[in-house]
Amino acid sequence: MATPSAAAAATPSSSKYPPGPRSILPNKILRDFIRDPIKTLMYIAYTYGDIAHFYFGRQHVYLINNPQYIEDILIRNYKNFKKSRGLQVSKRLLGEGLVTSEGEYHDRQRKIIQPAFHPNLVKKYGEIMTTYAENMCQQWNDGTTLDIHKEMIKVTSSIISKAVLGSDIKSEEGDQAGDALLTCAEYFNHLLTPFGGLIGKIPLLRINKDFQVAKKKLDSIVYDMIKEHRDNEHKVVSPQQMDLLYTLLHAQDEEAGIERMSDSQLRDEVMTIFLAGHETTANALTWTFYLLSQNPAVEAKLYEEIYSVLGNNNDNNNYRNNNTEKRVPTIKDVPKLEYTEKVFRESMRLYPPAWTLGRQVINDYKVGKYIIPSGSIVLMSQYVMHRNPIYFSDPELFNPDRWTKEIKSHIPRFSYFPFGGGIRGCVGEPFAWMEGILLIATFCKQWKMHHEINHKVELKPLITLRPKYGMQMKLERRRE
Ligand code: HEM
Repeated sequence: MATPSAAAAATPSSSKYPPGPRSILPNKILRDFIRDPIKTLMYIAYTYGDIAHFYFGRQHVYLINNPQYIEDILIRNYKNFKKSRGLQVSKRLLGEGLVTSEGEYHDRQRKIIQPAFHPNLVKKYGEIMTTYAENMCQQWNDGTTLDIHKEMIKVTSSIISKAVLGSDIKSEEGDQAGDALLTCAEYFNHLLTPFGGLIGKIPLLRINKDFQVAKKKLDSIVYDMIKEHRDNEHKVVSPQQMDLLYTLLHAQDEEAGIERMSDSQLRDEVMTIFLAGHETTANALTWTFYLLSQNPAVEAKLYEEIYSVLGNNNDNNNYRNNNTEKRVPTIKDVPKLEYTEKVFRESMRLYPPAWTLGRQVINDYKVGKYIIPSGSIVLMSQYVMHRNPIYFSDPELFNPDRWTKEIKSHIPRFSYFPFGGGIRGCVGEPFAWMEGILLIATFCKQWKMHHEINHKVELKPLITLRPKYGMQMKLERRRE
């Protein structure tokens, strides 16, 4: 297979557009893309190189497959791009939250929200993460087969609800928030299918009704919680009670003259963090457990590390569960779980939960020797870039050991970008790393997962990269 830049060099183009697939059949690329978007993008990138051009109907689309060009788009010239139109449907639930808002309004909101996700502040959610994961471990039974994807969605949605809304929430309401959240996430996934546009236009469909009920439920929970938090605003709140909603409620930037958020702004941001903050991590964990089940040597090395950090040592204060020899990890363990971090990093290389980013060009934009006209769509795919042999030797191999300090500092910034980058990059990145590492350690210290041989594994690339048929895993309790 030709490497991207070699292929580009081999197909010089003097035309106005970069090289790319052309077909006499109308909409062939669009149909290929709908059928198998990842295969189509891989093919285009590897055949046409750093920048390729094609049509979706009449829409000009450019696939950008060069880390420097991506950095220019996401960081240096980000103001010349807006999010693609697909995201507009999400406004039905998310309003003008961070993911969906644009321009100055977005940048202003980002400025006041970003500090709430500072790595030092997110540390306090570590215990919520391990408590929910540990509770889930206690409910699992030796020898049973479970859909691990469903389990991961359950645990990450509970964690995000708790971290955002805090400990005062009644558990029944917490469950309802989790259920409503799942209904909304499912709804968006349906809207993004080829007939999604149609679904949204038929209000009588069950799925639309369910969405409206779930949205109403979430709205009422979130507004109630905003009110409760505002009522308690002047009481002394301990650092442990300072959930994310409190932090957002107080967030402002006096220097820049940015005032606190209104109720409806808070509602949109909370809803956004709910939705953006669980499915991505759930997918990353699911793919991690799958990869571990396929790579016993990596799994053994991971367990060795977990055992050496959490094994039967003298740190008695941290024993929260007397039934197991290994204690529950805490945030203090995170820096010691180096190999666990590499496993998570490598899993997001092969299965990046956000598998592609799209932007629409505002003003004509120059990339290399080409001008991309305003209104065009640019696509930047993590899935494609992360498998580029120029940056990752033996790219299909799951090899956490490749993540040495040298590699991290040598590869171009945007050859590996599971969290995007720049002002629209993932605000929850520190939260996600901590959650990934703590949950892998908590689950793997007690359970070994075996992928069910007859269960088919296929990609389902919607907004996030899901396993199409879930992930059936047989559980084996660790005895050592
Ligand atoms: C493994 C887990 C995660 C991955 C791979 C991921 C990936 C991403 C990516 C690629 C973007 C940028 C999208 C774009 O540029 O169009 C993004 C944005 C965002 N993410 Fe994450 N994310 C993860 C977890 C989280 C978590 C845990 C939270 C919140 C607690 C979160 C909240 C957000 C928000 C609010 C945005 C929008 C930021 C903005 O536009 O200013 N994400 N995420």
